[in-house]
Amino acid sequence: MSNLILIKKKLQKFNKVISVSGDKSISIRWVLFASLASGLSKAENLLISEDVLAAINTVRKLGIRVVINGKFCKIYGNGVDGFKYRKNLILNAKNSGTLGRLILGFLVNTPNPIKIIGDKSLSKRDFKRISDPLSKFGVILKLKNKKNLPLTIYGSKNLKPIKYLEKKGSAQCKSAVIFASLRTKGTTTIKAKKSRNHTELMCKHLGLPIVVKSKKNYDEIKVKKAKKIKPFNYKIPSDISSSAFFIVLTVLSKNSKLLIRNVNINSSRIGIVHILKRMGASIFFKNKKTYKGEKIANIEITGGRSLNSINCPSKLNSGAIDEFLIIFLIAAKAKGISYFKDLAELNQKESPRLKWGAKILNMMGVKNIVTNNSIKIYGNPQLEIKKKIVIKDYLKDHRVFMTSIVAALTFGGNWKIYDKDSIKTSFPNFLKIINNLKKND
Ligand code: S3P
Repeated sequence: MSNLILIKKKLQKFNKVISVSGDKSISIRWVLFASLASGLSKAENLLISEDVLAAINTVRKLGIRVVINGKFCKIYGNGVDGFKYRKNLILNAKNSGTLGRLILGFLVNTPNPIKIIGDKSLSKRDFKRISDPLSKFGVILKLKNKKNLPLTIYGSKNLKPIKYLEKKGSAQCKSAVIFASLRTKGTTTIKAKKSRNHTELMCKHLGLPIVVKSKKNYDEIKVKKAKKIKPFNYKIPSDISSSAFFIVLTVLSKNSKLLIRNVNINSSRIGIVHILKRMGASIFFKNKKTYKGEKIANIEITGGRSLNSINCPSKLNSGAIDEFLIIFLIAAKAKGISYFKDLAELNQKESPRLKWGAKILNMMGVKNIVTNNSIKIYGNPQLEIKKKIVIKDYLKDHRVFMTSIVAALTFGGNWKIYDKDSIKTSFPNFLKIINNLKKND
């Protein structure tokens, strides 16, 4: 099948109920924790995508038995000290920053050096942010150009607890340090800028020695060595970051309505909903419930409301960090000038996303002013695209692809969008759900 998608027609109005795939952050964390549990853990609705399969292959290479059956998965954990560290081991994190960084926290006591590699996009990303705190535990990490993959980790038998100040709001760095602390005698103290807290919630659910004190702008986390991890079953909720594309698609589609079932609405993940609601979108959470510390709800969206610009407060950034590309489309359609700031982290993702956001808007004919960490978007409620747009060479960033599809289906124009395969990393059935919205039933 061709890797190119052509779109020349806008999506007609729709009224549907959909489910999107399992949450990527929770799926990867479940795979990692389950592999260190003492016995069999089972997951339902695990995201079966390349990032999660890379996590599964990684733990398999560390001697863990994993059985996948559709969206069901069984992991036969070998206990907290059960990884087999073969000599000359190479682990491939492929496109996944989450896997590449989180796994390092679990490898801090490897007796043999382990090499971590990744794909072209991951090999451009910053790993110094994680080698710095991990080396304070007594681990040695050798990185290409002191910053990138490939890297080699030389573990230590003599790990020392650390004090760590996490300033970027990176859940990946915070989580890797938590994992390392769970393998280290003594108490590690982390002061972390707010970011997604799935790791902390999973630790609490598992009864692991972690205490989190939530302060206004940061969390103070204390972690001790874990003696044992009990096996645990998990029904993975749907991913708000995947839902985001359908939320925006609906908000931009006149007379359309959508219900997305069973989505994780953890307060550290719903920045997009806060931002879009402030801009005038109609989005509601229905049937809220709590599952293993995570909040879950159905999301009901009604399209076609008039949209206002926003001067987006930076405190909403971390909860929407994966959603800005798609949020920029809402700003393009809003009345007035929107401003998003303190977004340097966006250029640290699978592709430099702040640059790509500006690039897509430019191609759409939407005036914007972009800097290294901010963007001003001059919205136009009448925006209609008439020209040809070609999206390619974007380091196969799945979110650039899906954002472009949503733009093509809502603003019109004649779009050629390359690298459809990129969706395999996080949301393999994205186009199937889009096609389902086109069907009138
Ligand atoms: C993730 C954390 C975020 C996010 C990524 C998933 C996680 O990255 O962008 O898609 O699962 O911990 P950072 O920690 O680099 O902000």
